[in-house]
Amino acid sequence: MKVCVLAGDGIGPEITAEALRVLEALRADGLKIEFEHALLGGRAVDATGDPYPEATSKLAREADAILLGAVGGPKWDTLPREQRPERGLLRIRSELGVFANLRPAILYPELANASSLKPEIVSGLDILIVRELTGDIYFGQPRGIEVRDTQWGEQRVGWNTMIYAEEEIRRIGRVAFEAARKRGKKLCSVDKMNVLECTQLWREVMIDLSKDYPDVELSHMLVDNAAMQLVKAPKQFDVVVTGNMFGDILSDEASMLTGSIGMLPSASLDANNKGLYEPSHGSAPDIAGQGVANPLATILSAAMMLRYSFGNEAAAVRIENAVRKVLAQGYRTGDIFEPGTTRVGTKQMGDAVLAAL
Ligand code: NAI
Ligand code: MG
Repeated sequence: MKVCVLAGDGIGPEITAEALRVLEALRADGLKIEFEHALLGGRAVDATGDPYPEATSKLAREADAILLGAVGGPKWDTLPREQRPERGLLRIRSELGVFANLRPAILYPELANASSLKPEIVSGLDILIVRELTGDIYFGQPRGIEVRDTQWGEQRVGWNTMIYAEEEIRRIGRVAFEAARKRGKKLCSVDKMNVLECTQLWREVMIDLSKDYPDVELSHMLVDNAAMQLVKAPKQFDVVVTGNMFGDILSDEASMLTGSIGMLPSASLDANNKGLYEPSHGSAPDIAGQGVANPLATILSAAMMLRYSFGNEAAAVRIENAVRKVLAQGYRTGDIFEPGTTRVGTKQMGDAVLAAL
């Protein structure tokens, strides 16, 4: 299997290095894996003027899977939209057609006190957010900012288009129903059908699709209520499926239930399980270069890569068990530190995972 590694900016290179060490340890044990490195995001802009250069696109298209750190940072925030690092991220997701973003939010028992919610609300939490990733208002046309005649006279207006085709909804729905079937058999579809036609269609397609999955219990929730329920009673959920924008927001919210966004992996899959694997967090410019970032979200993303793109469940579980073990041993990066545990940096956390492996 060929893996294209896109370390990116900020803490990206630090956390990706630890995930690579874990994968290299498995390679020494016989896992067939090759790495190719390329530029994405701010460093790609600096080197080529393009956040997603053609050379990177070629490697990514040829690879079996992509492991990505994170992109972006204040240095590039003032660039025109097309040159911003985050634009590179949207382009690679869209070009590879990785429409299904799986974000598990699991509270490890050892981190019960790291959550900002009371232990009784979050203990044992294990939910999966399935976010549509290549459509919705993030990609919809037309969009723009332009001067128009308004009731306040001539002035700039900004607009975007929320749009989904039936088939786009159906294919993400199938991924979510299949995932629910393998888990607790409960699927909650989140929309805003009371005010947005686009999401009314979303609901209709989900209801239609549910006929193929009689063993899965489908429910619906409006997104504002879902935001509330996630912090009020998160354990009512098993699998949640929603569009790109709502999923972006709800999955960040869900991450806090588990203690730290530094713990949350993600997989973004196309129809053939070719995938892009990345932590759910960004490039954390506030702690970049200090060697303190939590590499576990990226290491767990590598585990998801072995599960979905390599079909190697045993290797995935081996990594996940190693992560559980280091938490049980008390190793904590700053974001999940609490008194009585051992504070470690990025590299020492990687060392601990390797030792546990
Ligand atoms: P962020 O996720 O980078 O950071 C939010 C907070 O979480 C910060 O306090 C950070 O220190 C902390 N944090 C994040 N990951 C951590 C880790 N592994 N260990 C310990 N602490 C961690 O989000 P923010 O600050 O909104 O964005 C920073 C930059 O990242 C921006 O340029 C943004 O556009 C970009 N970004 C990139 C993403 C990606 O590459 N997929 C996703 C989200 C943001
Ligand atoms: Mg986000």
